[in-house]
Amino acid sequence: KRRVLTGITTTGTPHLGNYVGAIRPAIEASRDANNESFYFLADLHALIKCHEPQRVQESRREIAATWLALGLDTDNAVFYRQSDVPEITELTWLLTCVCAKGLMNRAHAYKAAVQENEADSSADPDKGITMGLFSYPILMAADILMFNATDVPVGRDQIQHIEMARDVAQRFNHIYQGQFFKLPEARIEESVAVLNGLDGRKMSKSYNNTIPLFEPEKKLLKLIRKIKTNSLEPGEPKETEGCTLFQIWQAFADEGQVADMRLRYENGIGWGEMKNELFELVNSQIQAPRARYVELMNDMGYVEEVMKKGAEKARDHASPLMAQLRKAVGFGAFV
Ligand code: TYM
Repeated sequence: KRRVLTGITTTGTPHLGNYVGAIRPAIEASRDANNESFYFLADLHALIKCHEPQRVQESRREIAATWLALGLDTDNAVFYRQSDVPEITELTWLLTCVCAKGLMNRAHAYKAAVQENEADSSADPDKGITMGLFSYPILMAADILMFNATDVPVGRDQIQHIEMARDVAQRFNHIYQGQFFKLPEARIEESVAVLNGLDGRKMSKSYNNTIPLFEPEKKLLKLIRKIKTNSLEPGEPKETEGCTLFQIWQAFADEGQVADMRLRYENGIGWGEMKNELFELVNSQIQAPRARYVELMNDMGYVEEVMKKGAEKARDHASPLMAQLRKAVGFGAFV
C-alpha cells in the first residue's frame, strides 16, 4: 500500500492554489483503496509566520471545514491537527540532532528571508528570522517520517522540503543503523504545480493575491474580474501560455473544455467574456461544497469531534514508532 500524506499551514484562508495543488489531489488519492491517507492541519508550522492566536485559530477552523466540505471521508483518511500529536514535536528534536546545519542553510524560505535583508544593506542579515523559520524543514520532515509516508502530494514550492526529509531520514537510518524511515517522494500535479494569483505571481498568502476557495459567489466573480490581463481587445488573438485566466481554466476544465477555450483564445475571446466563463466554471464546481462549508463553520461541534478522533488514530500510528525511536537513540527503560 502507498501511504499518502500532506498538510496545509494554518495561517490563512484556503485558496484556489491550495485546492488544486494539494487538497483536490489528496482527496482523490484517499478514495483509492490502494492508499492509506494522512492529512493534517500544520498548525505548528503556523507559528513560524504568525504570532496572532486568533488568526491561527480561525485558519485552523477554516482549513478543517474546507477539507470536510470538499468531501474528505474520514473513514478512509486519518485527518488531524499536527499540534494534537506531540510525537511529531518529539521526533523533530531527534531529527534536529542529526540534521546538518548546512542543509538548512540551503532552504529556500530561509534563503529568501536572508536575501531580503541583504537587499537592505543596513539590515542585519538575520533580522526577523526565528529558529522556527530556519529549521522549518526539519519539522516538516518529522510530519512526513512520523507516519512513514511514501507519497506527498504538494505544489512545486514544496519539493525541496521533501528532498530534505529524505536526506534527514537517510542520515537517521544510517546513524542509528536501522530502517526506521522510508524515503518519501513528492507527488506533483504537473498541470497545476503552481497556480498563479490575481497579479500573475504564484498564488500565495504571503503575496496577498489569492482567491479564497469558498468566497461568496459575488465576491468570487469580483475577484476573478480583478485577475491581471494584458490590454488586447476582443477579436485580437490571445496567448494561452502564461495567461493566469487560462491556467485556472485548465485546472478546473475537462480536456474538451480546454481544447475549446484554446480555440477561442486564437479567435480572440474578450477578457470580460473569458472572466465570466471562468467564474461560471469554477463556481459550478464549488457551489455545493461552499454551502456545506458555511454549515460546518456555523457549527464546529461536528468538526471538533472529527479532529479528536483523527488525533487518536494518528497517535495510534505515531506512538509505536516513537517508542522504537526512543529506544534506538538510547532512551530505553533501565530495567
Ligand atoms: P502551504 O500551507 O503553503 O500550502 C499548502 C499546499 O498548497 C500548495 N500550494 C499551491 N499549489 C499550487 N499553486 C499554488 N499557488 C499553491 N500555493 C500553495 C502547496 O504546495 C502545499 O502543497 N510546509 C507546507 C505545509 C506542510 C506540509 C507538511 C506539506 C507542513 N508539513 C508535510 C506536506 C507534508 C506549507 O507551508 O504549505
